[in-house]
Amino acid sequence: MGHDVEPAGSGPHVRVPLPAEEGLPAECVSPTDGGRAGGPGSHGKRSMAEMNPISRAFVNAFSDRRGRRRYAWVSANLLLPPGAACLEIGCGNGGMAARLVDGLRPSRYIATDLDPRQLEAARRYLAKRYPGGMPPALALEAGDMLRLQFPDGAFDAVFAFTSIHHASPSHHDFSKVPEALTEIDRVLRRGGWLVYEEIVHRQKIAAWLRDHGYTVRAHRKRWTHEAVIAQKPG
Ligand SMILES: C[S@@+](CC[C@H](N)C(=O)[O-])C[C@H]1O[C@@H](n2cnc3c(N)ncnc32)[C@H](O)[C@@H]1O
Repeated sequence: MGHDVEPAGSGPHVRVPLPAEEGLPAECVSPTDGGRAGGPGSHGKRSMAEMNPISRAFVNAFSDRRGRRRYAWVSANLLLPPGAACLEIGCGNGGMAARLVDGLRPSRYIATDLDPRQLEAARRYLAKRYPGGMPPALALEAGDMLRLQFPDGAFDAVFAFTSIHHASPSHHDFSKVPEALTEIDRVLRRGGWLVYEEIVHRQKIAAWLRDHGYTVRAHRKRWTHEAVIAQKPG
């Protein structure tokens, strides 16, 4: 798939220490979640940490309240450069994509998910939210965080809200997460931002980012959730 995504410039931030604690998973994790063979579209050959129907309903049903909170924090802490190109990984029902596109006005925002059922949920949600048609900046695509279909350095910002831990077939298994982080790092331009929220592997993800020269610019811990804005070295 040919993608022409131009990253924009960089912006000022304040240094915040890296998160220290590793917490326990709460949201969209269940004993039946891990280890099943995924079957979504062209990306379905690999095993993925699918959500079970309860998790899926939870993720889709509470997205508005959660989305408001997330958006308030991200918009207060992230200054996107004009003309920014953004990627979202594991976009779920597309709620955050819509909020970020409407609020931060990037020139391009590609929301991706591996699961075709989630992409369908996102299509439905976005069709309701934008009865006159989606904003031109916003695109919805199938995408596997372990094999992103985008060129190196294509994005100014990558967003991943409780999706990185889905890289491994089981949520408690960290083994595939570094591969996902390597892919995210590959498509992020130098000086670009990784904005993520996680409930699992938080300390290990933070250590990976630190080892790869990232600086945490903003950090918020809330119950089991940790939100981070980390900047790739320039
Ligand atoms: C816990 S849900 C989070 C959804 C959304 N970001 C939110 O916060 O509401 C995790 C999402 O990651 C997606 N996912 C799982 N494995 C993936 C992969 N390898 N690549 C991209 N997305 C994946 C799932 O389909 C699901 O939509």
